[in-house]
Amino acid sequence: MTVPGDRLTAPQPGWSESADVVIVGSGIAGLSLALSLRSSGLRVQVVTKGRVEEGATQWAQGGIAAALDDEDSPEEHLQDTLVAGAGLCDIEAVRILVERGPAAVRSLVALGTRFDREVGGELSLTREGGHLRDRIAHAGGDATGREISRALVSAVQNDEGIGLYEQALALDLLTDSTGAVQGVTLHLMGQGQHDGVGAVLAPAVVLATGGLGQVFEASTNPLVATGDGVAMAARVGAAIADMEFVQFHPTVMWQGPTARGQQPLISEAVRGEGAVLLDPAGQSLMAGRHPLGDLAPRDVVAKAIMKSMRLTGAPHAWLDGRKMGSATWKRRFPTILQRCQELGIDPREQLIPVVPAQHYASGGVRTDLDGRASIPGLFACGEVACTGVHGANRLASNSLLEGLVFAERIALSLNRELPRRREPVEPSTQQSVVSNAARPLLQRAMSDGAGVLRTAASLESALAALQTLPADFPGQPSSSDWETANLIVVASVLAHQALMRTETRGSHWREDYPEVDDEQWRIHLRSRLVSGEWQTQHEPCESPRWETWV
Ligand code: FAD
Ligand code: SIN
Repeated sequence: MTVPGDRLTAPQPGWSESADVVIVGSGIAGLSLALSLRSSGLRVQVVTKGRVEEGATQWAQGGIAAALDDEDSPEEHLQDTLVAGAGLCDIEAVRILVERGPAAVRSLVALGTRFDREVGGELSLTREGGHLRDRIAHAGGDATGREISRALVSAVQNDEGIGLYEQALALDLLTDSTGAVQGVTLHLMGQGQHDGVGAVLAPAVVLATGGLGQVFEASTNPLVATGDGVAMAARVGAAIADMEFVQFHPTVMWQGPTARGQQPLISEAVRGEGAVLLDPAGQSLMAGRHPLGDLAPRDVVAKAIMKSMRLTGAPHAWLDGRKMGSATWKRRFPTILQRCQELGIDPREQLIPVVPAQHYASGGVRTDLDGRASIPGLFACGEVACTGVHGANRLASNSLLEGLVFAERIALSLNRELPRRREPVEPSTQQSVVSNAARPLLQRAMSDGAGVLRTAASLESALAALQTLPADFPGQPSSSDWETANLIVVASVLAHQALMRTETRGSHWREDYPEVDDEQWRIHLRSRLVSGEWQTQHEPCESPRWETWV
C-alpha cells in the first residue's frame, strides 16, 4: 500500500528555541531519562502532548520485575524472559535488562517510590505469567504505575534544570543536510506566546511516546497511545521492527461486544495470588495446557481463551477470584476491586467476565543497546522502542523495567558525547493530514484484520481498508487529526509485517500458518518507509533455543 509519508505540517514555525536533548513523552521512560541526563548538566526539554502524568505508566497494575529476592538471580529472570519471547529476544539486550534491573528498581526507591513491603521491611514480591519466581515489586497493591509516576513527576517538577511543556504535541522530526535529526516541531496549546506550531532544536531527540493501542477498537491503553513516535521516526526513514508482535492481554474485563476505547484490565497478578480462569462450563481453562497453568506466558493464555471461546461460542471466559477472600482483594487489588464494583461485579463473590484485548507493542523504533535508532541523533526509549528485549511476546512486568534500564543507557551515552549540532534544513512543504473521521474506520479494519487471530486474507483486507480511508481534509487540523495520520502509518507497518510473517509465534497468531517455522522465521522484520512504501529486510536474531506452546 502507499503510506502517507510526508510531514504533518508545512512548517513556518512561529517560534523556536534550543536544548541539548529533547525528550518526547513523560512516562517512566521519558521522565527517568530526564532525571539521569540532568546529573551531567545537559539542557533537557521534555515535551508531552497531554498533562505530565498522562500515558500508560500511571495505569500499570501488576508491578515491575527484577531479581530482588536473595534466592532469585538475573540469570533466572533472563531464562524466563527468553522463554516468553518465543525465540526472538536479543540476548544481549535481555542480559542488560536483568542485570541492571535490581539497581534500577532501587533507584526508584531512592527517588521516593513507596513500594509495598512485608512486615519485616523487605519489598513484597508477587508472581505473574511466565515467571518461575516471585519477582514483581508493586505499590499501593495494584497501583504501581500511579505511585511510580507520582515519584517521577515530583522529582522532575522539583528540578529547575528540566524544561517541561505540557499540551505540546510533537509533530515531526527536523533533520540536517546529512540526514541527522536536529530537533522536533511541536504544536503547543495554552502556553501564551508559544502557542501554535514551533520547534525545539537539539542534536539529540529521544522518542519516549509509549504504545499504539488506539490502532485497535478496544485496548487497555489510554487515549494518548497513538503510536506517534513510530510514525515520526518512520517519516524520517528510521527502521521499524517487530510490529507484528502486538500483545493481547488475556484478562481484560468483558463489557459487551460493542465495547470501545480503553478497557479495564484485571492484572495478571490476580492470578498470581490464586485466581483461576474458567470456561463456560466452570472447568479450569488452563489445566493441562501448559506446565505453569494459569500463570503460563500471556500469549499462551490468550490463545487458550480464544480457543475455548471458539469451541463453546461463548463471548468471553471467566476469572474466578472468589477464593482469594475479601481481605486479600482489599489489600492487594483495591483499584481493580473498586472498578469491578463500579461496573456491577463484586469479584469477591462473583466471576469476572474476561476476554483478550490489545495491551502492548513489543516492536517499535529499532534501536541498538544504547537506545540509538538507525538515524543519527534519534533515540527511542520505553514502549515505543524495539530494543529486542521482548522478542515475540513480552514477559509480564518487564516493560516498566525496560523503560528505566534503557533510559539509563541512553543517558550514559549522551552524557559521554552529544551528537553534533547543525542547522536543520528547510523541510518539504508536502503535508499528510487525515481527518479524525477516519479513525473509527481504521480501528475497525485493524481489529477485524490484524487482531488476535490473523490470516493473509484478513491482513490484506485491513491493508486495503487503510487505502480507502477518507483523505480530504477541510480546514485547520486538530491534534486528533494529526494523531490519526500517525495511526495510519503505524497500522500499515503492523499489518505489512504481520502479513509477511507466515508462521505463528508468540503473540503473532496466523490461522493460515498455525505452526512455528524456525527455519525461516528466527529473524526480526525490519522496515523502512521509502517514497510511501515499506521496504523490509530480515535481521538475524541471536536468541538461544526455546520451547514452543502454540
Ligand atoms: P507512556 O507511559 O505511555 O508515556 C508516553 C508519553 O508520551 C505520554 O506522556 C504521552 O502523552 C506522550 N506522547 C505520546 N505521543 C506524543 C507526541 N506526539 N507528542 C508529545 N508527547 C507524546 N508494564 C509493566 O511493566 N508492569 C505492569 O504492571 C503494567 N501494567 C500495565 C497496565 C495497563 C493498564 C497498561 C495500559 C500497561 C501496563 N504495562 C505494564 C505496560 C507499561 O505501563 C507501559 O509499557 C509503560 O508504562 C510505557 O512507558 P513509556 O514511558 O514508554 O510510555
Ligand atoms: C498486569 O498487571 O497484568 C499487566 C502487567 C504488564 O503488562 O506487564
